[in-house]
Amino acid sequence: MPLPGVSNLEKSPGPALASRWRACGIDRAFLRRMTEHPDNLRRPLTPAREAQFRDDAAAVLLRLFFCAIPTPAWEAEAAMGAELLGAVRECGLLLSDGDRLTAPFHLRLIRGLYLFSDYLNGHSEAVMGAGETTAILYQAGCPTHAVQRALDLGCGAGTLALLLSRTAAHVVGTDINPRAVALAKLNASLNGIANIEFRRGDGFAPARGERFDVILSQPPYYPNPQGESIETYLHGGVRGDELAWRIATEAPSYLTPAGKAVIFASWTSGRPPIHTPDLKVLELSANRRELHGTRQGITVLAHTPAGEAWHAEREVSADRWGEITRAAIEEIFAVEDYLLQPNGGMAFEVSEGLTVLKEGTQTVVQGAPGSWVGTLPVDEATRAILESPNAGHPPHAVHAALRRGLLKLSGKPRVNAPSQSR
Ligand SMILES: C[S@@+](CC[C@H](N)C(=O)[O-])C[C@H]1O[C@@H](n2cnc3c(N)ncnc32)[C@H](O)[C@@H]1O
Repeated sequence: MPLPGVSNLEKSPGPALASRWRACGIDRAFLRRMTEHPDNLRRPLTPAREAQFRDDAAAVLLRLFFCAIPTPAWEAEAAMGAELLGAVRECGLLLSDGDRLTAPFHLRLIRGLYLFSDYLNGHSEAVMGAGETTAILYQAGCPTHAVQRALDLGCGAGTLALLLSRTAAHVVGTDINPRAVALAKLNASLNGIANIEFRRGDGFAPARGERFDVILSQPPYYPNPQGESIETYLHGGVRGDELAWRIATEAPSYLTPAGKAVIFASWTSGRPPIHTPDLKVLELSANRRELHGTRQGITVLAHTPAGEAWHAEREVSADRWGEITRAAIEEIFAVEDYLLQPNGGMAFEVSEGLTVLKEGTQTVVQGAPGSWVGTLPVDEATRAILESPNAGHPPHAVHAALRRGLLKLSGKPRVNAPSQSR
């Protein structure tokens, strides 16, 4: 099946379609109640039994747009009005099949945003919508405070760009795939968002010479040993992480002095560390390999004044991988900044919910639900720290406990002021 055309999407009726869905009550709770089976980027939603038999406008529009069930044109017209239906057909969001209409695009409601994308069924140019990995990157990278400029590199259907537009005054979304740019523009218009510019191009080329307070990117990272790009959204090179590596190494030149780049990729084990004298680099990795032998990672990059560079790594247990938040990342940044300072005057506390247990001759610590620490064996020095954090322990042991997330700086951790020298 060829992908549906996108050349007329700019004639879409904009927010009027989303307004119609909203007015009918098609919100998150409705979709949850009226559909079955877990979410999936490959298939439409499956209507629950109740949604199959109701004939009110919400149920009709749910079956038509979200479940891609062919629907008589007269029924669609009754649910959305002739004018809106005409505009939706003209731009290609609904296609005629005899006297029935079908919806060719994948559609979901994510954090209050209606998002069209393609079904991911092996077509080389298919555009990815909001997936599980998109959600992880959003949580880890979306700023919690207002910023000026944000970039979503490899924006796909524009999910992250649209979410960033809530905290950034201006957002740029870029993608090498022209379909992605068309769908991302459609989604911005559908949701009535005007502070995003979508541009087409390879890597950072469409943002040459610009600086951003936030850069988010989830480039394709699956290996393609044949060396040809099979699916643009999926394959990142022969090894898989070549494009991700290019983006990670170029990102610092596009950051403002206080900016952060957060890159989600799956790295091969032989990849060299990103280590430069003017960067703070945090590499989080999931402690489980993907099927093709790589590990998912979140790489956070920021500038630093000369002499204050660091490179930190944290392994996160696979079942906690989806819980990494921007606040947790900020805390690691504060700890790593602290570790560079002379150790005077700071107090420590044991991380919340951590318990120390005896298991035979071993001592182990166990994290509370939601913490990154699973169950870890600890040595005598760490046990002593956890029992009385401020009793004057050797600095290397304190540092090790801080780095493993067992200990926290008490009170609000100090964060170094960003360098203004760039
Ligand atoms: C895994 S998808 C991520 C989509 C979206 N950002 C998300 O997180 O849901 C990767 C995206 O990168 C785009 N891409 C692939 N190669 C690229 C390149 N060289 N430059 C820019 N974008 C690229 C693909 O077209 C695709 O939309």
